[in-house]
Amino acid sequence: MKQISSLAEMHQVRRNLQGRVGFVPTMGYLHEGHLSLVRRARAENEVVIVSIFVNPTQFGPNEDLDSYPRDLERDRTLLAQEGVDIVFMPRAEDLYPPGYQTWVTLEDLPTKLEGTQRPGHFRGVTTIVTKLFNLTRPHRAYFGQKDAQQALIIRRLVRDLNFDLAVVICPTVREPHGLAMSSRNEYLTPQERERAAVLYRALRRAQNAYEAGERHAEVLRQLMRDTLAKEPLARVEYVSIADLNTLEEIPAIISGSALASLAVRIGKARLIDNVWLGATPSTLDTDSENATPGRSTT
Ligand code: PAF
Repeated sequence: MKQISSLAEMHQVRRNLQGRVGFVPTMGYLHEGHLSLVRRARAENEVVIVSIFVNPTQFGPNEDLDSYPRDLERDRTLLAQEGVDIVFMPRAEDLYPPGYQTWVTLEDLPTKLEGTQRPGHFRGVTTIVTKLFNLTRPHRAYFGQKDAQQALIIRRLVRDLNFDLAVVICPTVREPHGLAMSSRNEYLTPQERERAAVLYRALRRAQNAYEAGERHAEVLRQLMRDTLAKEPLARVEYVSIADLNTLEEIPAIISGSALASLAVRIGKARLIDNVWLGATPSTLDTDSENATPGRSTT
């Protein structure tokens, strides 16, 4: 596995790569969720690049940039075991040198859901992902459904800026009791980790009701709130039933598909999770719009 930190070297190595390139951007501290993206990328492409970069610009001033868990040695071992070709670990001072002033922002999607709690977060995400796309020039880029808003924003970014690549959204990987895998689960004590299963229970309750024919968005939101209220450790930030395309809160009846999502604090961790109602990532049809079948593989 080749390890690259320099931006110039990444450009130069990329110029000489042959075949389809699959790219998995990460902030490291890898878990099974990341590895599922890497395995999918490995299965679908001749070359797999994984980036590890804890991007400072997507953290707010009172967020966990300094304490964000890191274990580069372990990450590199795991990626080598998965047969990754290139691990790209750029330096913050190279990506954001003094005088840096270019940002990539979307108008609406970043203002909803997570954007209401984490202003500026998605500006950091869309900027770094754009930079990483320019450095790695992938044919396919892999994101987890766990961060649904992020994945939908990147999908929009790729369309709006005409990137010639397919955004592949992969299913959330869960612990046996339902907690979605996340590097931030590290902040939970063993007891809190058990209790954090309440997030998925709440989402499943809404999903079951939807599947049984319930279409009143507020009824589904209330089912989630009621479930969360039974867990004394859960401090709810938001519970949402939103339109999957606009991320606008659905005021009354769900007419097509919807995103059920929530953000909850338990102990020191801020946890997010979601399920899609009446849709799956494959029904979003990203490949047909973005991947240009004739694109050269170099
Ligand atoms: O999902 C993440 O880990 C990050 O937001 C990403 C996409 C790697 C950008 O820093």
